[in-house]
Amino acid sequence: DTYRIAVVVGSLRKDSLNRRLALALAGMAPQGFTFEQLRIDDLPPYNQDNDGNPPEPVRRLKNEIANAQGVLFVTPEYNRSIPGVLKNAIDHASRPYGQSAWAGKPAGVVGISIGQIGTAIAQQHLRNMLAYLDMPTLGQPEVFLQNHEGLLDDKGQIGKDSTKQFLQSWMDRYVEWVRRHAAM
Ligand code: FNR
Repeated sequence: DTYRIAVVVGSLRKDSLNRRLALALAGMAPQGFTFEQLRIDDLPPYNQDNDGNPPEPVRRLKNEIANAQGVLFVTPEYNRSIPGVLKNAIDHASRPYGQSAWAGKPAGVVGISIGQIGTAIAQQHLRNMLAYLDMPTLGQPEVFLQNHEGLLDDKGQIGKDSTKQFLQSWMDRYVEWVRRHAAM
């Protein structure tokens, strides 16, 4: 059986460090795990009036989450919280009330930023949401990366051995977490 991990990247920009980090982690997945980034850039701003008849991108997003055994959030920090585009995606897939796609899916949270505390505050805000959404979320190790020149290239190659080893240790813990909590 394959465990499918739905990867949600909180940045839409082409050269996103967080997308590079998501790629790097996907490359560290063991056999039996696939990591696929979900598209969130075509979701309209969430409007509760549309709960009864959600637009196609919302139905697609919810299906992709439903078909995954785990979720990985890879997010920047914007103004000490998560980017609006990520919150929008979370809100969309959580509705209509009682039909959240997130419920029960084991989750991981990682991020990279320019700043010294490496998305720590954004991740704490996100963890609050995931607790409410009933997603069992891996607590340790925490991944708060600060970017520096040459750390991550656009193919997701990591330019520093200690970072590579640290992320591999995170991956080992995360896949165990998913195996333990996924509904298979
Ligand atoms: C930022 N950035 C930022 N960094 C940080 O560590 N804490 C913060 O609160 C913020 N706030 C913030 C707000 C906005 C609107 C932008 C555009 C940026 C900087 C951020 O870490 C940097 O732009 C990263 O490169 C964003 O991640 P991606 O797009 O490279 O994945």
